[in-house]
Amino acid sequence: MDAVADRPDPPVREMEAASLSIDPALEPARPRTFIKSIVSGEVGVLVGQKVVVGGWVKTGREQGKGSFAFLELNDGSCLSNLQVIVDAAVYPLSELVPTGTSVLVEGELKKPPEGTKQRVELRVEKVLEIGPVDPAKYPLPKTRLTLEFLRDFMHLRARTNTISAIARIRDELAYATHTFFRQNGFRYIHTPIITTSDCEGAGEMFQVTTLFSDAEKLEKELQQNPPPSESDVEAAKLLVKEKGEVVSLLKSSKASKEEIVASVAELNKAKENASKLEERYNLKPGLPQKDDKIDYARDFFGRQAFLTVSGQLQVETYACALGNVYTFGPTFRAEHSHTSRHLAEFWMVEPEIAFANLEVLYFNNLDDMNYAENYVKFLCQWLLDNCREDMEFMVKNYDKTAIERLELVSSMPFERISYTKAVQLLVNVTDRKFENKVEWGIDLASEHERYLTEVIFKKPVIVYNYPKGIKAFYMRLNDDKKTVAAMDVLVPKVGELIGGSQREERLEILIKRIEDSGLPLEPYEWYLDLRRFGTVKHSGFGLGFERMLLFATGIDNIRDVIPFPRYPGRADL
Ligand code: 4AD
Ligand code: MG
Repeated sequence: MDAVADRPDPPVREMEAASLSIDPALEPARPRTFIKSIVSGEVGVLVGQKVVVGGWVKTGREQGKGSFAFLELNDGSCLSNLQVIVDAAVYPLSELVPTGTSVLVEGELKKPPEGTKQRVELRVEKVLEIGPVDPAKYPLPKTRLTLEFLRDFMHLRARTNTISAIARIRDELAYATHTFFRQNGFRYIHTPIITTSDCEGAGEMFQVTTLFSDAEKLEKELQQNPPPSESDVEAAKLLVKEKGEVVSLLKSSKASKEEIVASVAELNKAKENASKLEERYNLKPGLPQKDDKIDYARDFFGRQAFLTVSGQLQVETYACALGNVYTFGPTFRAEHSHTSRHLAEFWMVEPEIAFANLEVLYFNNLDDMNYAENYVKFLCQWLLDNCREDMEFMVKNYDKTAIERLELVSSMPFERISYTKAVQLLVNVTDRKFENKVEWGIDLASEHERYLTEVIFKKPVIVYNYPKGIKAFYMRLNDDKKTVAAMDVLVPKVGELIGGSQREERLEILIKRIEDSGLPLEPYEWYLDLRRFGTVKHSGFGLGFERMLLFATGIDNIRDVIPFPRYPGRADL
């Protein structure tokens, strides 16, 4: 309750105000108090306190024949609004009431009349600042707007209850992630966003290049400053020849040193000019070519580069030195998926654990599946403990079962079945016709994954030991030579939440897997070095952060759980 306590003015602020000649009457007398600390505070302590609050008007209405106004003020610190009352004598009310207006006000907290739903309200004594809104032009009126409509207002949608609640839940999940890994002895490693290796080997990378902008610049430059003609170049070369002859002549006729030095200088000048002209003459508009292919040696990095699809390969280098590590950052996939579960830019949490198998075998410490299960449980429990108000909002407006789901997942052990068993179960399903036929060897489709977790088991399921043909080259080959030590965590509402595996630590087998996947070895030489020098059994996984948000909130479309969604055709802001 500190934030509300009456504090003396900090002297520095007074000095600043004086030197900037700010009207002291409009200087806040105290630091801004978050509405969260007011609405969650004890009424007995709050009433009578003077506070400064700032926020955006959700709804405003003039009352008592225009003698005062009620403002529902929200500052984003929590879902709840603070009821604010302003008298007409304090400020022109018509400027304060439009939805979206920002205000910084100072006043006293009062107990509202009996029978009203507010526990405490703010009587304004001073309006310190205002950011007005023309209601005729404000695109987000008070009425309930669809999430789809809001996607056209990426820059304003955070002002809505839903998007701000999601933002707070997202922030809590990020904080919980760092807390979980820190508690378990993991170090946070920043892996690169620009990379030259394709982790998943699926060729779904966005290319990073300056060749196009360089080519455009060159084209413009050549238009403004046309290149020399062939005869200009010939003339310059001829001049070099002539100047060379003069030098030889002077030398053979034993001319004075000064004369020779001067003629050599002229020769050098002519040479320089000729080579410049020749260089410009050779400039060709378009992309640089070599042997009929684009010459990436002339690109920014001197080779082809991409946005990362996963930080895994790079974080493995740190796992093989620091032991338990994780990376958490944006990843990019240029797949043309228009589904409600895919983004072109999404965030992934990727732990990597040295001396760890897929499942506990003979080590005492936790292994991959256990970490995955414990981590997801930890996230669910965190939201139950720290995000009640926003989660209740989700239950009321989007998904009645959202809180139940968190309770269930945080308390029940996950089911674990092999891929082969999963296929058997799905083949025997009679009450449902799948669009995609099930047989051993297929990549499970979202409908299959959801059937397993939602219908058959009604809880999260870890499917492990997938056919090698459908999984990435780095996954460890099992003794049956047909499957790899991969695991996917499937959860109700979403399907695949986590993809992980034990990594192939045996050099020869890894080389063969890279070759069999049709990938070149050269870009992976450094990765192979980890197996050449001090190789170690290690495992890890990647949790799709937005998928976790879908699972937690019950929101249907992944485009609404990331602040700025990127998907085919859209990259606003
Ligand atoms: O299964 P994926 O492709 O696994 C990897 O990238 C591994 N390198 C991870 C690792 O072992 N370190 O992706 C991991 C998760 C998926 O389970 C899914 O939740 C999410 O990332 N994901 C996406 N989320 C949103 N949009 C997309 N296009 C996604 N693709 C994958
Ligand atoms: Mg996957």
